[in-house]
Amino acid sequence: MKIGVLTGGGDCPGLNPAIRAITLRAMDYGDQLVGIRRGWAGLLDCDTCDLTLDVVEDLIRQGGTYLESSRTNPFKRDEDVRRTVANIKDLGLDALIALGGEDTLGVANKLAKMGLPTVGVPKTMDNDLRGTDYTFGFNSACQVAVEAADRLKDTARSHRRIIVLEVMGRHAGWVALEAGVGAGADWILIPEVRADLDEMCEHLQQLRSRGKHYGLVVVSEGVKLPKARGKAARLDAFGHERLQGAAAGIAQEVEARTGFETREVVLGHIIRGGPPSAFDRMLATRVGIKAVELVHEGRFGTMAALRGTRIVSVPLEAATSKLKRVPRRLYQEMKTLFNN
Ligand code: F6P
Repeated sequence: MKIGVLTGGGDCPGLNPAIRAITLRAMDYGDQLVGIRRGWAGLLDCDTCDLTLDVVEDLIRQGGTYLESSRTNPFKRDEDVRRTVANIKDLGLDALIALGGEDTLGVANKLAKMGLPTVGVPKTMDNDLRGTDYTFGFNSACQVAVEAADRLKDTARSHRRIIVLEVMGRHAGWVALEAGVGAGADWILIPEVRADLDEMCEHLQQLRSRGKHYGLVVVSEGVKLPKARGKAARLDAFGHERLQGAAAGIAQEVEARTGFETREVVLGHIIRGGPPSAFDRMLATRVGIKAVELVHEGRFGTMAALRGTRIVSVPLEAATSKLKRVPRRLYQEMKTLFNN
């Protein structure tokens, strides 16, 4: 078979191990692999490369994506939809494996519904894709965020400061929650739960009165604040705001309300780069292998997914119809740790 492979959306650790696993497994079947550069943008331009053993051999330990990525949405213009379909045929692809989150896999799903042979591989450091327990990229991102938080706590303690640490997470607070709990944060703010700054500042004051002279607040970039908001910038091709700056507004509020010296740190893309964790290397490898098997079973319109300890297939439709957000009860359960 001739199989196309592309990576779309934000890069994250695990994409390269997944590309490697897809290539190695497909080689077992005697398939020909066509790498498509820059996500859907590369399919529109027929910008391709060969995926061979030489190319993928050492990808297991590399961050980013060898195939490069973009946030191009081919469904924005009818002409691009036509070109995408025509190019899949012109390239002679018997199948297309798309690695991505809700946007990239949403496109793969639409193409599958049009009868094109697409299979999905779930990735996003946000971990907000439905149908799979975890997406690769998330574990590596949390590891970096926890390490950063540990380091920041040293300065917070030395200078008796509050540090507000902002991590990525546009719609879902998985990274903030996991990194915040992992770092022993004093408060965590996520997009799913409206921020109560009165309650948070009161808690930070109580900590001081019992002798803890520093504090760490971990916040998702997409947190909803009563007054101030993260700076909304331009929209991407899927209509998402580019966020950044929630921490600055929160730090100002904390300092104004408590009088404690407060600084903000934005981790941004730092947690999206670097070598994948061992967990992500394994997960990416397993879903990559499964995707090739789904192709050979002709199970198009599906995605490889982790359920418990098993790798299964789920319909792309179910995976992309709604985001997987942090359940309120999980947040409340974790709040019992940081709210005392
Ligand atoms: O991939 C998802 C994500 O990591 C979001 O958490 C974040 O808002 C967005 O990517 C940033 O994307 P970009 O790199 O395109 O600015």
